[in-house]
Amino acid sequence: MIIPVKWTDEGVNMLDQRLLPTEEKWLMLKTYNDVAAGIRDMVVRGAPAIGVSAAYGVALGAKQFVGTNVVDLEDELDYVCEVLGKTRPTAVNLFWAIDRMKRTFHKAKAEGRSISEIKQTLLQDAKDIHEEDIESQRLIAQFGGELIEDNSTVLTHCNAGALATGGVWGTALGVIRGAVNQGKTISVIADETRPYMQGARLTAWELLQDQIPVRLITDSMSGHVMKNGDVQAVVVGSDRIAANGDVANKIGTYMVAVLARRHGIPFYVAAPLSTVDLNCPTGDQIPIEERDIREITHVKDIQLAPEGIDVSNYAFDVTPNDLITAIITEKGVARAPYVESLKNMFNE
Ligand code: MRU
Repeated sequence: MIIPVKWTDEGVNMLDQRLLPTEEKWLMLKTYNDVAAGIRDMVVRGAPAIGVSAAYGVALGAKQFVGTNVVDLEDELDYVCEVLGKTRPTAVNLFWAIDRMKRTFHKAKAEGRSISEIKQTLLQDAKDIHEEDIESQRLIAQFGGELIEDNSTVLTHCNAGALATGGVWGTALGVIRGAVNQGKTISVIADETRPYMQGARLTAWELLQDQIPVRLITDSMSGHVMKNGDVQAVVVGSDRIAANGDVANKIGTYMVAVLARRHGIPFYVAAPLSTVDLNCPTGDQIPIEERDIREITHVKDIQLAPEGIDVSNYAFDVTPNDLITAIITEKGVARAPYVESLKNMFNE
């Protein structure tokens, strides 16, 4: 059972995902700045895992506070939240978790709690966010598993597994695990997901641990395997879902969705409601992270591209809602028109 982020009395313990699959090393992050660096530098990645980590980061920030005045604590927490909020722009779970922790602080302050009680309350809420995330993935696995037919091969892109969430299930890999738990025979095709290789490094590693059959392909092979009839469904995760159902996910997801439509293959998105941003009307408003061009020009220290070449390194793209067969959440399965079905999920 993989749980990539853990709270301990010493700090936040994180599995260093940069080193997988060749090394399994845990880092102890003792300050909120360490947690912010961990998110920014991809020790932890994947939208729900980033959200859980940020919540623990806020709790750590409160724990580090040594003053005696609640107003000073409030100023300090505003700063902590600002630092955490500047780490990665696309995954809305980061901002969702920070906002929830801020609301928890304000409620505790309004109730006249002492500083040590507020610290306890914030830590408890971070732990609740973590537990609720795992529970959401369990429900996503159950609902999503039902959509996958027996004897299917499922193609997935990036890593939307236990590593990318609070742990245990994952979103897209949760759906696959759910189908397997329901007694179905499932195999997986994992896109390598260049340039950061989350498919090759993380999805392959996770599925091998669970003994779920997985075949690794390069991103450019996905059209070929679909045309060959090797793929019965595509399931991916998401970093942010706009109110109209447009889905931001790892770069290359849009290409996979177009190919799935071309070949009549269902294209499912699995994500908790903490990934749905009703304040974002369409995918056009979702900020797309651009990362260091070295991820493209180099593999570790080996240079692949000519010195000085102009490079774009978009980390995410947006799949328009009309290419999406269904969005699987912890509240059930949303289908088009998503403006209504997603909003309804929040009212249930
Ligand atoms: O850059 P990453 O590795 O954080 O990107 C991760 C993804 O794009 C995942 O598919 C997404 O966060 C969903 S994780 C359940």
